[in-house]
Amino acid sequence: MRKPLVMGNWKLNGSKTMALDLVTSLKKELAGIDGCDVAIAPPVVYLDYVQKLLADSNIMLGAQNVDTHLSGAYTGDISAEMLKEIGATHIIIGHSERRTYHAECDKFIAQKFATLKENGLVPVLCIGESEAENEAGQTQAVCAKQLDAVIDLLGAKAFNNAVIAYEPIWAIGTGKSATPAQAQAVHKFIREHIAKVDADIAQQVIIQYGGSVNDKNAAELFTQPDIDGALVGGASLKADAFAVIVKAAAKTKK
Ligand code: PGA
Repeated sequence: MRKPLVMGNWKLNGSKTMALDLVTSLKKELAGIDGCDVAIAPPVVYLDYVQKLLADSNIMLGAQNVDTHLSGAYTGDISAEMLKEIGATHIIIGHSERRTYHAECDKFIAQKFATLKENGLVPVLCIGESEAENEAGQTQAVCAKQLDAVIDLLGAKAFNNAVIAYEPIWAIGTGKSATPAQAQAVHKFIREHIAKVDADIAQQVIIQYGGSVNDKNAAELFTQPDIDGALVGGASLKADAFAVIVKAAAKTKK
């Protein structure tokens, strides 16, 4: 059985005041929830602050990025060891915003996956197609290529205790979520693609859906057999909406 994971990606949003308000409300709303793992990924400058706020809660700390290097002359970068020391556990890599605005390629993202695994952190690997690729019928090919970069470098076993977030780019921040059936079809494909190499790992791996998930559409998405939670952007900045999403996931048993 897979325990769903709902993770909030704050992206480039927030302040200390906002973090204090949001985390205080979330701790109250989510106390005692145990059917769903929960993580939040604030901007890196607030990690230490948020970690202290989360100290006595069931909410885990995430981060939005990591570098492939552990130390050295890499101005502006953050290492897996640093994230681990600060208490982050779930690290987003390969987000389409980084692929687009920072030209991150599949190979580089696979190296990030490797450094996270080497340091005992949980990679949250984002994959997904653009609108044009979707319309051209290339969704499966794009997802397969993005997964294969990791499988080729590390083998399918690397997905043990790792998370995949299927995030169609056309659904991110647009208010236009994939339908439950559309998302389920791709999630099933992702699981089957991994199963071709390792059936056990494919059964265990958490596959989140991301892209305009909110308090209204989450429950129906989670009814789908291969959707194991969500990576939430905009709605993770509102405690009440995020709590509704977490509670909807906690009700689903896979
Ligand atoms: P969104 O973002 O929920 O605002 O669409 C999701 C994401 O990019 O992880």
